[in-house]
Parts: sequence; structure tokens; C-alpha cells
Amino acid sequence: MSTKFYVTTPVYYVNDVPHLGHIYSTLIADIASRSARVEGKRTYFLTGTDEHSTKVSEAAQRNSLGTHEWASKNAAAFKATFDAFNFSYSDFIRTSQERHKKEVELRIQQLIDSGAVYLGEYKGWYDAGQEEYVTAAKAKAANYLSPISGKPLVERSEENYFFCLSQFQDELLHLVESEKISIIPQSRRNEIISKIKEGLNDIPISRISSDSWGIRMPKNETHLVYVWIDALLNYVTAINTDALREFWPPSVQVVGKDIIWFHAVIWPAMLLALQKCDGNEWLQLPEKILAHGFWTHEGIKMSKSLGNFVSTSDLEGYNELLGLDAVRLFLIMNGPLGGSDSSFSERELHESYNANLANTVGNCFGRVTTMIGKYFDGCIPTCQSLHHQEFSDRVNELSKQAWLESNDLAFDKMAAKAIAIFREIDGFIHRTAPYKLIKEEHNRDDVAEILYRALDAIRLGAIALLPIMPNKMQELLSCLQIDSPFEKESPSMELVMEQKIELGRVLFPRFDTKGS
Ligand code: MSP
Repeated sequence: MSTKFYVTTPVYYVNDVPHLGHIYSTLIADIASRSARVEGKRTYFLTGTDEHSTKVSEAAQRNSLGTHEWASKNAAAFKATFDAFNFSYSDFIRTSQERHKKEVELRIQQLIDSGAVYLGEYKGWYDAGQEEYVTAAKAKAANYLSPISGKPLVERSEENYFFCLSQFQDELLHLVESEKISIIPQSRRNEIISKIKEGLNDIPISRISSDSWGIRMPKNETHLVYVWIDALLNYVTAINTDALREFWPPSVQVVGKDIIWFHAVIWPAMLLALQKCDGNEWLQLPEKILAHGFWTHEGIKMSKSLGNFVSTSDLEGYNELLGLDAVRLFLIMNGPLGGSDSSFSERELHESYNANLANTVGNCFGRVTTMIGKYFDGCIPTCQSLHHQEFSDRVNELSKQAWLESNDLAFDKMAAKAIAIFREIDGFIHRTAPYKLIKEEHNRDDVAEILYRALDAIRLGAIALLPIMPNKMQELLSCLQIDSPFEKESPSMELVMEQKIELGRVLFPRFDTKGS
């Protein structure tokens, strides 16, 4: 198995501040990165902002600020939010940075030199809000209105540089069908396959513009590089240093379903074209593209006009009330990780907190450690007998399944398996009743075995939840004298018999839903 892991998020537009959707994509990448770290891989996690969009300069104008100033303000808001969510990104790239401009110029020059990019003329229907052209057939079907914003499409004819996407149709189809590029979930993969089969046209990658915001085509200052081509190259910019190049290719690229086309078709085709240029053999294709669905709010699509975004401050309010890690767990368990969308509901957040954390993980931890305090003076009991091996077998199996889910990027299922471990422990304690057995001295070894096995199961459950709830689970594991894999190179993650543990810490106090 590969020992390096490179995960990316989309770079986010800085026309506005972040909301739940952006946080969710980044959370998935954070969990993927932390899971890889728990498994001992060297990880690199890239996120950042996409700044050269006309949406950004328009928003800056509306707010009477310079474009760079506006972009910086919002980029800082994204960064602050990502820090507040404890996202362990290795780098936060801004596409307005000089390092990125240089990389874009270099790569586009290489594409021009190799003939993959050429000058031509384009006629078509332009969706200004999306900054993309819509095919003639799609434009007609949508009554010449944007399928996204509903605003009229504009017929445009212009001199553009083109990228020879059509040449890659067969190769891309083969790569996606053979899962050399794996698109998750299956429904999105099928969607991409049928779209590729419809046929690929060359695409414009520049436009003539006098805007001062954006990157100019190398050796032709009249053209601005199309913002998507500029943005996609961020994944290379960040890694193209002697120290980091070994992380390439991306192991996982997390995107929303809205931008899967760019990532599963245009982007791999760009890489295939770049690979043909001298010195670029290392620019191999991404391994997996995870396209998640969208969050709605109490069942309604989140939009500016409705003003119903679940905002950063809403989420920070929940963090304060229930703890950041409880919110992270809820988002990953209930979010649109698969093919369908998910609705955010405050009531479900509260209920899920009580059911999974207060009543299950927290209660189980409190109960088992309290008994260890009472019966074994707070030291991990020595397990000498083998009467309850089948319980540990079931737990080991659940833990194994949790990590298999993680390798499939099914972090919602990973969480469910981890929580199932705590339910299994509750059942075990209920069945074996060590609090009754302890009343007879001759049962002492049996009780030691039960509590040792229960504590070891807690350890495994907590490790499987660690990527999702890094602070709280580390707090739990530290009570058991277990190191953090996020802080130590070779952490010791096993229980040591007879070692003193910290007792009775209340990790998740019950939340009174009636008061909310
Ligand atoms: N800048 C481009 C991406 C360029 S990547 C080379 C962009 N930015 S964006 O700010 O619009 O963010 C898009 C991403 O935010 C989506 O792909 C998705 O990951 C996330 N989401 C935005 N709204 C969302 C929801 N309502 N629900 C879930 N995620 C959504 O597109």
C-alpha cells in the first residue's frame, strides 16, 4: 500500500464568505487526510481559494473595495473558518499568488508548444454567472436561459485559445471505465461516462479582455486565461517543489457534484496533454475523484435569494453549544457523501448528539472507567482468562470494517461502525454484568477480563472516530495514556495493563432538547 497520501478540496470562490457547503467539502478532505495519518501514511492536504473570477471583481465593486482587497478579506474568512473547524490543511493556496501565476504561465506555454492549445474562433451561448459556455442543444432546451441562475444566456463570438479536449475522448472513456480514474459514487461515474460518450468538443480556455484581474495568456497579453483552467492548475502549483513533488498524483480530489465535469474530464485531459511535454512524466492522473451531493436547509435549496444558507456563524453557534467535534460527526454522518442530497436540520443535530455521543460513546466510556476506578483502583486490569474472546472478535471485525469504509471514503459508514463498537460494549456489559459479578471475590479475574476487553474495545472505537472527532477522541485516548498520531511520529496506541488511567471524565454531557 502506498505510504503517501495527497488530498485536495476545490479552491473556493472568494466573492463571498464560506458556508456549510464549503465547510463540508473541506471536512471530507480533512477526515480523509487524518484517516491516512492514523494509518501511518505521509499526508499532504491542500485547500485554498479561487480568486480570478469575474464574480469576485463584481462583488468587490459592489462593496466599494479593490478586487485584491476584497479577495484577501474573504480568503482570510475561509482560512479562519477552516481553522475554527480544526482542518489540518498543509497549505492554503490562493490563485492570486505569484507562485500560481508562474505555474499557470509555464503550463499553458507547454500546452501551446505541444500543440494542445491553439488559437481559434468560438461562437456559442455564454452563461455569465457560471462563467461557462452552454452547448447549442442545452441552450435551446433551456429556452436560452441559464439552467443555474435563470438569467438569459448571451450569444458570443470571439477569438479564443482552445484546448484540444476532443482528442482525448477515447482515452478518457477508457480511463474512467477501467477505473484508472475512479469516480465515486457510482452514479456520478455513470453520468460522466454517458457524457463523454455524447462526444467531446475542444474548449475555449481564454478570452480577450481588458480586465486587470486574472492571468494573461503567455506571449499574448490581450487574452485572459479562463478562470477554470487557471483554478485547476492550483493542484500542481502547490506540490511543484523539490520537497513536495513526491506527493503527486492526488490520491483523492474532493469536489461537489456541480463541478465534477471539470475535475473528471477537463482536468485529466489537461494532465494527459501535459504529460506529453518533456520533463512532465511525473504529472500522472488523480487516483480518485469523490463527488458529493449538496446540502439543503430543512429540505430547501440554500440560495442567496432565499437567504437560507447555513452560515459559518450558525455552525460556530452549534460548535459552542455541542462542541466542534459533535458537529463534525453530525455533518459527516448525515451529509450528502453519496449520490443524493441531504437536508440540514437543527433538531436532528441535537437528537444525534444525544443518541450517539451523550448516550453511547460518552456513557460507555464513563461507565467502564468508573468501574475500573472502583474495582481496580483506576489501573487497567490484567486480562488473564479467555472467556470472552468472541466479544473481542466482534469488536475487531467492526473496527476492521470501519477502516475498510475509510479506504472507500465512506466516512459516514466508518462513523456508524465505530459507534456500533460502543453499542456492542454496552450490550456486553449488560449481558455479563460485572457490577454483579464483583460481589463474589472468585469472580475477580472474570471481571478483570470483561473490563479489560471493554476498555480495549473503547480504544478501537475511539481510534476509528479519531479522524472525525480529533479533539474529543484524543481527550478520551489520553485518559487511557494513548498517544496522538497527529502529534507523534510513532505513537504508542495500545493499552498497557496495570497502567493508571484517568477516570470518570464527562466527555459529552446530555443536551436538553426541550430547552432548544
Ligand atoms: N472555484 C470553483 C472550484 C474550482 S476547483 C479547481 C468553485 N468554487 S465554489 O466556491 O463555488 O465552491 C464549490 C464547492 O463548494 C462545491 O464543489 C462543493 O464542493 C461546495 N458546495 C457549495 N455549495 C454546496 C452545498 N449547498 N452543499 C454541499 N457542497 C456545496 O466551484
